Amino acid sequence: MIQHYRFGHPIHTGAVLDKPTMDITPVKDFPGWDISPSNGSLSKTLSESMRVFGLGETVRGMNKRGWIYISNNTDDPNHDEDKRSLYASQNFILLASPEEEEVEGIFIDDPGTVRFDIGYTELNRLIICSESGNADIYRFTADSADEIVRQFRAITGQSYIPPKWAFGFGQSRWGYKSEEDIRAVFTRYQDASVPLDSIYLDIDYMERYKDFTVNTESFPHFSDFVEEMRKSHVHLVPIIDAGVKMEEGYETYEEGCEKDYFVKKENGERLVAAVWPGRVHFPDFFKPEVQNWFGHKYQFLLEQGIDGFWNDMNEPAIFYTEDRLKEVFEEIEKYKNENLDIQSYFAFTNLVSTLGNNPADYRRFYHEHEGQTIRHDKVHNLFGFYMTKAAGEALRKMEPNKRILLFSRSSYIGMHRYGGVWTGDNKSWWSHLLLSLQQMPALNMCGFLYSGSDIGGFGADCTEDLMARWLSLAILTPLYRNHACAGTRLQELYQFQNLESFRKIIELRYALIPYIYSEFMKAAVKNEMYFRPLSFIWSKDSRAYEVEDQVAVGESIMLAPVVEQNHNGRAVYLPESMKMIRFKAWNDYTEEILPAGTHYVECRLFETILFLRKGHVLPLIKPAKTTAELDYASLKFLCYDADPKDYTLYNDDGFTRNLPFTF
Ligand code: GLC
Repeated sequence: MIQHYRFGHPIHTGAVLDKPTMDITPVKDFPGWDISPSNGSLSKTLSESMRVFGLGETVRGMNKRGWIYISNNTDDPNHDEDKRSLYASQNFILLASPEEEEVEGIFIDDPGTVRFDIGYTELNRLIICSESGNADIYRFTADSADEIVRQFRAITGQSYIPPKWAFGFGQSRWGYKSEEDIRAVFTRYQDASVPLDSIYLDIDYMERYKDFTVNTESFPHFSDFVEEMRKSHVHLVPIIDAGVKMEEGYETYEEGCEKDYFVKKENGERLVAAVWPGRVHFPDFFKPEVQNWFGHKYQFLLEQGIDGFWNDMNEPAIFYTEDRLKEVFEEIEKYKNENLDIQSYFAFTNLVSTLGNNPADYRRFYHEHEGQTIRHDKVHNLFGFYMTKAAGEALRKMEPNKRILLFSRSSYIGMHRYGGVWTGDNKSWWSHLLLSLQQMPALNMCGFLYSGSDIGGFGADCTEDLMARWLSLAILTPLYRNHACAGTRLQELYQFQNLESFRKIIELRYALIPYIYSEFMKAAVKNEMYFRPLSFIWSKDSRAYEVEDQVAVGESIMLAPVVEQNHNGRAVYLPESMKMIRFKAWNDYTEEILPAGTHYVECRLFETILFLRKGHVLPLIKPAKTTAELDYASLKFLCYDADPKDYTLYNDDGFTRNLPFTF
């Protein structure tokens, strides 16, 4: 059952499909909850066994109890346990307990700041608060978590479907500067016979960080180069940033000014913010004509053979605004000849350290939204969504028959219809390896099926064992991309000693592509999850609710990866008997049936273990250099008390849009 409640006068976000409209239930009929529309809050006492799942891309575990999460999209590269906000706002939670028949879901559709106090202020109390007091609230009830998710997606829409090549291995690094750099990556992987489908172009491909330009000095023959890679079935995927550089003679900037497409301050002047190129303007993605304009700018790259993009810095990230910078310089001046004591020293250093992403700056500018002028902070969490919607809709028009890869850093529910997400600037930390697993079911719950983390970690130096474990952990993750920050240790697989062993992991990934693709497509089309917490399947098993480092992937597989350094194995909980398949290589594996219960399972570095559920099937294919070259005639099936015919393998050409998708 779905009920719709309303606090105040919410802003229309587009998260929920406009049709069919639902009747609004009076707030007094919100069973089990204490509602206070006047302060925008709803709260509920949680029984000890109740778990709270969801919220998409956040810190901490799958069960969100015991922390406070604040939806306020933020460019923060330190995803520590004490953070409350990351890049996205996915305000959907799901409450389930092994002791209760009913599962409940809550979606708060409010593009401003929303707090989810999940046992932080009071241990057993869930308090959700919309700062503005204006929110559409949807309550879902059903007898299973899967059904709640289906209901949720029935009203928020089907998930984005990328082309098949986007499930192959991708190599990325902030720091590839030229055609030669990219070609070297390609060649090194080719020489090592490591499969590869894509290489990402970070900000250096542009001319002075200007969107929709290519640096012709470092990429003198860009379209030829794209074609050269395409011949080997390798796709180049450029980044697009939210800020448009202010520079005379730069077409996008001049056109945007002329047509009044950039966000403005109260006094009618355009906001001057700064990101990579220094001063930028932000397109007002809230205006349909700006969405259309910006989205069609991607044509410049499509024409050169590009068929995938990643949208970045779209929280939007602000290094500083010109207004704030001016204020700070004036303030700093006052300290010049002062004796800086404890207070003044901190006040002084704070002036510069709080320049970036300063809340005051998000109150300086306005959007035109459906006939209203709205201050940015009230709709802040929609910015990345609307940038990606702009791209997604235009790409659909420009390439009506071909799926284009598109994913974004910032997001809000509703964006899952237009693109995927990556989880931003994580670190080469073992704790982030585990976090990357825990974020996947939470993102899937909210509709973000095409997702993944930066494999190996973005910030900090990656070690060889971390890379090996990360590639194994993410072996079924849709977005399978090694990405790192400039200045960190080089972490392309050929930078490490055991290249041969890395090749075997990547080959295993390719051997699993038929399963990955088939299960992903089923989840997308049937409004289901691809990654699920174990408790969503074994909902009466109280142990399953405690498991934070294992996930179910698709209908057949459970993963229980090693997430600690210097461990050659781990304890694995099996809610029922499963077949353990230990891969040393895609064609070198052992199978062993394990009974239900807890087992210590050895798993050495470079081994990958998949647990096959009873009555289920795992298709496996002979790997190839790219997904395009996989030969489905080589398919074979691993089974546990099942027949290959029990498995519905979905496949298609991998790029056509709007297929009938029948299973
Ligand atoms: C941001 C992105 C990161 C990218 C960098 C440079 O930090 O999150 O992935 O490499 O910007 O564009």
